[in-house]
Amino acid sequence: MMEDVDDFCFDLPKIELHAHLNGSLSDQCLKKLNCMDESTKEYKRIADVLDKTERTLTECFEVFNIAHRATNTVDAVYKATQSVIRDFYLNDHVVYLELRTTPRAEEGMSKEDYVSAVVRAIKENNLEIIVKLILSIDRRHSTEESLDTLNVILKMKTKYPDVIVGIDLSGNPHEGKFNVDLFQKARDNGLKTSIHCAEIKNDEEVENILTFGPDRLGHATFLHPSFGGSQSNWDIYCKKKIPVECCLTSNVICGTSKSFQEHHIREWIKSSLPFCICTDDKGVFCTSLKKEYEMVVEHHGLEPKDLWQISYNTVDYIFASDEIKTRLKVKLMNWYNSHEDELFNSD
Ligand code: IMP
Ligand code: ZN
Repeated sequence: MMEDVDDFCFDLPKIELHAHLNGSLSDQCLKKLNCMDESTKEYKRIADVLDKTERTLTECFEVFNIAHRATNTVDAVYKATQSVIRDFYLNDHVVYLELRTTPRAEEGMSKEDYVSAVVRAIKENNLEIIVKLILSIDRRHSTEESLDTLNVILKMKTKYPDVIVGIDLSGNPHEGKFNVDLFQKARDNGLKTSIHCAEIKNDEEVENILTFGPDRLGHATFLHPSFGGSQSNWDIYCKKKIPVECCLTSNVICGTSKSFQEHHIREWIKSSLPFCICTDDKGVFCTSLKKEYEMVVEHHGLEPKDLWQISYNTVDYIFASDEIKTRLKVKLMNWYNSHEDELFNSD
């Protein structure tokens, strides 16, 4: 008999579809990668931020900066990717992971070098976890810079078609905007699309994104009319029923959701709309996929069987082949069968 929800949420084979590489790095990994002189004031300041298990929003953004400084060489990017994959598998029992990251050039490292290092770490992974890659466009970047990144993404997709599966739009939602031509070009070149959408109230952009119709939406916080979205956008959404990647802790810490209870996931649960549960930035927000599942049990009254169903349904939203979908469904069915008595018929 599995003792409690905690064990259940760990043991359940899970699918993670919204995880930013540099936001997912553990404190230990960041400390190791930073290799700073421990006697300096700067080291102490960084160590203080990293030692916290709860962070303010300002401290969360500070961790992004620390992570970017720590992953500014090919070797560090490789090690960081390896560490995140291991963490998701060993500490969270994730069996399928779509990692996303923004190709970044640094001194001595081109955007292509950056992507190659991530892909190499993914390909050399020999754990029981399937890993695919989504490459992000940062919405703060100019059209010219975004086009340059898109060209790198398309080139790398041709080189590594079995690893690179999709493209994402992320970054500060208060800056930049959705560029439909860019994402249409990506789609025409065989990339799936996942777009951060309605992280803040912005009905015009949300309409543009929904009309384009990405394969998945990140967050969708201000989309439902009860959460400030327009009725006309909600009507478009209900026709398309695009799966939403829900990241509860991230939204609560960033203050876009009032609380775990008052998270928009409740509307998706209530109306049986498609969604999955994700971490966003497990390192930055001090969370894990296991914890996110626990939050849904605690605050939205779901049962273990519902969580199994969520994980099973999520398989349909992944950007990998039908063959991989079948393998994952078999894994989840086998897990269900071997836990059925103790978990679902115990009352
Ligand atoms: P990276 O792309 O691997 O460097 O991961 C960190 C980056 O992901 C950040 O600099 C942001 O651009 C993006 N990101 C992480 N979390 C969020 C979010 O909640 N909203 C929008 N963008 C995000
Ligand atoms: Zn995100």
